[in-house]
Order: sequence, then structure tokens, then C-alpha cells
Amino acid sequence: MVLVMQELLLVCLMLLLLCRHSVCLGVGAQDFRLYQPQDKVLVAAGETLTLNCTASGMIIPGAVRWLKGWGSDKKTIYDQKEKPLPRVMRAVNESSTDFTIYIRNVQPEDIGTYYCVKYIKGGTDKEEVFQRGNGTEVSVQAKPSPPLVSGPEQRVTPGQSVPFTCTTGGFFPKEIGVNWFKNRNPMTAQQPQVTEWRVKTYNMSSTVMVTLQKEDVPSQLTCEVQHSTLLARLHGSFQLSRVLRVPPSVEVHAAPSPAEVNKTVTFTCLVKEFYPANVSVSWLENGIEIKVQNISQPGKLRSGLFKLRSQVEVQATEEKNGSTITCVVVHDAQAPANSSAFLWISNPSQGELSKESQMLKDDRLIYIVVGVVCTVLALLVAAILYLIRTKQIKGKSSPSARLHEPEKSSEATTQESDPNNLTYADLNFDKERKTIRRMVEMSQQSEYACIQTNRAPNGDDNLTYADLDMVHLSKAPKRPAPRPEEASSEYASVQITRK
Ligand SMILES: *[C@@H]1O[C@H](CO)[C@@H](O)[C@H](O)[C@H]1NC(C)=O
Ligand SMILES: *[C@@H]1O[C@H](CO)[C@@H](O)[C@H](O)[C@H]1NC(C)=O
Ligand SMILES: *[C@@H]1O[C@H](CO)[C@@H](O)[C@H](O)[C@H]1NC(C)=O
Ligand SMILES: *[C@@H]1O[C@H](CO)[C@@H](O)[C@H](O)[C@H]1NC(C)=O
Ligand SMILES: *[C@@H]1O[C@H](CO)[C@@H](O)[C@H](O)[C@H]1NC(C)=O
Ligand SMILES: *[C@@H]1O[C@H](CO)[C@@H](O)[C@H](O)[C@H]1NC(C)=O
Ligand SMILES: *[C@@H]1O[C@H](CO)[C@@H](O)[C@H](O)[C@H]1NC(C)=O
Ligand SMILES: *[C@@H]1O[C@H](CO)[C@@H](O)[C@H](O)[C@H]1NC(C)=O
Ligand SMILES: *[C@@H]1O[C@H](CO)[C@@H](O)[C@H](O)[C@H]1NC(C)=O
Repeated sequence: MVLVMQELLLVCLMLLLLCRHSVCLGVGAQDFRLYQPQDKVLVAAGETLTLNCTASGMIIPGAVRWLKGWGSDKKTIYDQKEKPLPRVMRAVNESSTDFTIYIRNVQPEDIGTYYCVKYIKGGTDKEEVFQRGNGTEVSVQAKPSPPLVSGPEQRVTPGQSVPFTCTTGGFFPKEIGVNWFKNRNPMTAQQPQVTEWRVKTYNMSSTVMVTLQKEDVPSQLTCEVQHSTLLARLHGSFQLSRVLRVPPSVEVHAAPSPAEVNKTVTFTCLVKEFYPANVSVSWLENGIEIKVQNISQPGKLRSGLFKLRSQVEVQATEEKNGSTITCVVVHDAQAPANSSAFLWISNPSQGELSKESQMLKDDRLIYIVVGVVCTVLALLVAAILYLIRTKQIKGKSSPSARLHEPEKSSEATTQESDPNNLTYADLNFDKERKTIRRMVEMSQQSEYACIQTNRAPNGDDNLTYADLDMVHLSKAPKRPAPRPEEASSEYASVQITRK
């Protein structure tokens, strides 16, 4: 037992003696190696970084640490002998060969070169660096923050050109793309400005100039950002209505004008097309404010703009003749806009006169109406006369149909003799070559219609109706049905079945 103790002590002494200088270590110490297999590591912010380090060769006493940087600004990240930092963790606890560590929730500031370092006790109890790994360069990919679009501080009126700026920050690597859209339409912007912010992260700022329009109330600006760390593009938007001010146009109308004495005159103030809705209307009578009973709420137009109508009623007393009624509109805390109308009172005598003239007018109106009616009637009569006349003229020349109707008395006889009694219709066509026939007809001065039923009609059923327009029926002594063969005339046989 004592022997063993002695031996140990000896070894310790020997070690102490040998290890005074780093060069005079044991024989096996020369084999010691620290391997950092990772040359460069790219990690996304928020993720866990693995820093590998393995030792080989003889196990030598002394701490292994992870350092960030090498130089005056080096920083201990992990110390085998101390409690690790909150985000740092050993991969294999208590291992004497695997010194791999994890760093959780990596931040852009973690960017740097990490060294796995083996220390040994130096001469004056101070630790000395025995060996270090080749180092692992860590770069942190950081996503850009959601883009923010900012516009002018104060509202601007249509026609003004103002800058809008899109900013995003904290991203790495530096390369970033920006696109601008106004209601999905691409816009041309200045080159984005990328500036370094903190260690190894960048901020970006991009500006577009926009000339605002009255129609821009529903418009939206969008800034679209693309970056290697992003799966989908990021968007920031800005509603142009936030910075738009469309001043109203103001109009005043009086009704009735002129007004009769002691009647009420309604003054209407039309406040048209403004934005935002913040508006106040007041009324002045010769510069003195009058009370308004009715303040209507602004109405929204389809364009997103607002309109408002305010009405005030004024008693048209004689002394108010020629008064100025003014509508004063204060929109969005701007300088007031105004519009005026006069209160005109018609002269009482003029009023009577006007009444007389009104009556006169009424009389005239009656005359006019009567005149018009008479004219219309006259025209109608003339038209009818003209029509009749033209018909008379045309009757002899224009195509017509004539029915040849045999006398009813003859029906019985005809029936017996001719069971296939037919009803004939004479069609007279306006053809020049039939002059002879026309002449004959004209000379005879008679027109016939021959309607005969198939069977003998019995009782009251013996009437056959032909509802043919422009057919003139006349009874005439029975005459033989015109023969179709006749060269100078054309016939149509109309057979009417019995009801
Ligand atoms: C360290 O880098 C050197 C060259 O830069 C190389 O020769 C050596 O093998 C590397 N060591 C390890 C442990 O990777
Ligand atoms: C790094 O170390 C971990 C834990 O020991 C191991 O799983 C992984 O394979 C190592 N990676 C490399 C590149 O050596
Ligand atoms: C290593 O040790 C720490 C504390 O001693 C413990 O919280 C952790 O779970 C251990 N890790 C492994 C992989 O055993
Ligand atoms: C850079 O961007 C970050 C994240 O968006 C922000 O917090 C920081 O204030 C910006 N810095 C500068 C100088 O713009
Ligand atoms: C109008 O009213 C005033 C007082 O109310 C009255 O004196 C005046 O006669 C009225 N005038 C007419 C034309 O009715
Ligand atoms: C106020 O206006 C509404 C409609 O705009 C109307 O119906 C109402 O009679 C008005 N009131 C007064 C006191 O003028
Ligand atoms: C309208 O503008 C006035 C003055 O700037 C302000 O006091 C008021 O709150 C605004 N009203 C609305 C509805 O915005
Ligand atoms: C109406 O507006 C004009 C300028 O357009 C201004 O000179 C005038 O003083 C205004 N009148 C009132 C009553 O506010
Ligand atoms: C009101 O004034 C107009 C214009 O000066 C004038 O023509 C009219 O006769 C006046 N009416 C009364 C009732 O005095």
C-alpha cells in the first residue's frame, strides 16, 4: 500500500518536473491532435449550431475550451471545467475525445471563427495553449425583418409627388431584392440602399416617388422583398388613403329664387368629393353665423371619396333682400373653403304682375292646347281623306281580291245541280296585259263574291262568313263561275268547310 502511494507520488513529481515546459512532455504527447472537421458552417438564425471537435492521441491533462476569435478579442464560449453558457451544450458529456458543442438559437452576432483549444499547465501555474484546431468559420444566415413602408408625415393633396420608403433589416447575406407595386402594377424605384448594421447583418432601404391622385383613396403600395433565406417573399404595404387629402369643392344653391315675401328659402350647400371624411359645415348670413338644424353625415362615394349636403332654411323677410348666405367648410383642419348665394325676394307688385302673366300664360297654354288638338284633328281628317282617295284610285289598279258569291236563293238549285259547290275568289292583279279584263270589269261597274258551301246548310247554319279584308260583296244574279281557263284573268278558289 505504502509502496503504491510512493510510486504514485513519484509519478506525480516526475510529471510536474517534466511538464514545466510544454516541449518537455511525455513521449506520447507528440501524437495529440485536435480535429475541427468543419471548415465553414452556414447556419440560419434561430437554429442550433454544431461545432465539432475531436481529440486523438495521448490523453493529456489540461482543459479543452472553445474560443471565438483568435487575438485580443477572443472570447471563451465553452470551458470544460466551467458551467456552460445558457445557449451552449456539450454533445457528449464527460468525453475526453469528443469536444463537440451545440449552440442553440444562433444569432447574427454569433458570426465568427471558432477554435477548439487544448490547454496545459504552464510554468507559473498559468495555463498555456498546447494546441488548437484549424478553426470553424461560422456565418449566420439571417432573414430580413418584415418590410415596413413609410410615407410622408402629413397628408398631401392630389398632384403632389412624395417619397415612400421600404425598410427591412437584420439579414445576412447582403444580397437582397426589392420590388414595388401600386395595386399590383410594378413601379420603378431607386436602387435599394444596403447598409451594414451590427456584425454581419444588413439593413435595406428603398424609395419610390409617387404622384398622388384623387382616385388613390383605395390604392395600395406594396414593397416585396426577396432573400436567399426566405421561402416566400415578404410584403409590406401602405394604404395611400393614409396620406391623401382631397379638398372638397363647395357649392351653394338657393331655392326658390327669387322667393316671395315671408316664404322660406332653402339654401343647399353641396360639399363634393373630399377625403378624409373629417369635415365641418357652418352657415353665415351676411357674415354672421346662423344656426343649422340639419347636419347630415358624409356619404361615401364609390371612388372612396366623401360628399356631404347641408341645408339651411331662411325666412325671406323683406329686409333680408340681397342678403349673402355663405356656406363655410372646414375640411381636415385646413383653411376654410366657402361658397355663397344671395337671398332674392321678388317685388310684391312684380309678384302680382307675375301672377297676371302667369294667368296670361295659362290662357295662352289653353289656346296652344286647343290649337294643337285642332291641328291634329285636321291632319287626321286630311290623312283619312287622302287614304280614302288613294284607295279609290288604287282600287282599280292595285291587287285585290273579290269574292263571287252566288245568291242565297240560288243556293238550293246550285246545290242540286252542283254538289261540289265551290266558293270563288277573284284575284285581280295589277298587270298591264290584263287591261282588257279590267276594262270589262270597269264597264260593268260591279264586283262579285261567290261563296258557296259544300253541303246544303240547314236552318240557321246556312251562313258562311268570309272574314276577308277589303272585300266588297255584292249580290248579283247568279252567273256562271268564271272559268279558270280564261286567258285574261286569274282565279283563286277558296274552299270553305262547313262549321
Ligand atoms: C489544418 O489545416 C492545415 C492546412 O491549412 C492542414 O494541413 C491540416 O491537416 C489541418 N488539420 C486538421 C486537423 O484538419
Ligand atoms: C459532429 O459531432 C456530432 C456529435 O458527436 C456527430 O453526430 C456529427 O456526426 C459530427 N459531425 C462531423 C461533421 O464530424
Ligand atoms: C450533460 O450534462 C448536463 C448537465 O450536467 C445535462 O443537463 C445534459 O443533459 C447532459 N447531456 C448529455 C447528452 O448527457
Ligand atoms: C436595421 O434593421 C433592424 C431590424 O429591422 C432594426 O431594428 C434597426 O433599427 C435597423 N437599423 C438601422 C440603422 O436602420
Ligand atoms: C310678412 O311678415 C311680416 C311680419 O311677420 C308682416 O308684417 C308682413 O305684413 C308680411 N308680409 C307679407 C307680404 O305677408
Ligand atoms: C334633415 O335632413 C333630412 C334628410 O337629409 C330630412 O329628412 C329632415 O327633414 C331634415 N330636418 C330638418 C330639420 O331640416
Ligand atoms: C377632425 O379634425 C379635428 C381637428 O383636427 C379633430 O379634432 C377631430 O377629432 C377630427 N375628427 C375625426 C372624426 O377625425
Ligand atoms: C371665402 O373665401 C374667400 C377666399 O376664397 C375669402 O377671401 C373670404 O374671406 C371667405 N369668406 C368667408 C366668409 O369666410
Ligand atoms: C330685391 O332686390 C332686387 C334687386 O335689388 C330687386 O329687383 C327686388 O325688387 C327687391 N325686392 C324687394 C321685395 O324689394
